[in-house]
Amino acid sequence: MVCLGNICRSPTAHGVFLQRIDHRGMADHISVDSAGTGSWHVGEAPDSRAVTAATTRGYDLRQLRARQVVLRDFEHFDYILAMDHANLHALKAQCPDHLAHKIALFLSYSDCKEQEVPDPYYSGPHGFETVLDLVEGAADGLLDQIMARHFNKSA
Ligand code: 4NP
Repeated sequence: MVCLGNICRSPTAHGVFLQRIDHRGMADHISVDSAGTGSWHVGEAPDSRAVTAATTRGYDLRQLRARQVVLRDFEHFDYILAMDHANLHALKAQCPDHLAHKIALFLSYSDCKEQEVPDPYYSGPHGFETVLDLVEGAADGLLDQIMARHFNKSA
């Protein structure tokens, strides 16, 4: 899960997807991580507004710490999912060509009409609710696809 700072959107996606994996009993089989294309917030906990909004819906983001995307991520992960087009382009610019097929927009796994999870950093609390709404839909869609593709299980 990749955004710009790794303190708002991608940790939210990380925490939501982790909970979905756990609820589906797949914690031993599927791993998730998050990172930012930028380095400003490396080492920081998620934004307190993201933590508060997530906590209200039952997700715990408090243990997460921001890091920046590294080259090894493109080798290690099967799905590298950007929260918006700017981060999609930043990832594609860094990624070796033969691994670029792993990169997609996170919301391409949702049936919503939006393509991007809007940056909530300069928004009020409503921005963080929108992030959660969009992320929850995409997390469900992504897990359904992974279950079907890699574990031969339908939703
Ligand atoms: P994120 O949000 O990419 O969802 O973590 C942002 C966090 C920090 C900044 C921008 C977006 N910033 O400009 O510092």
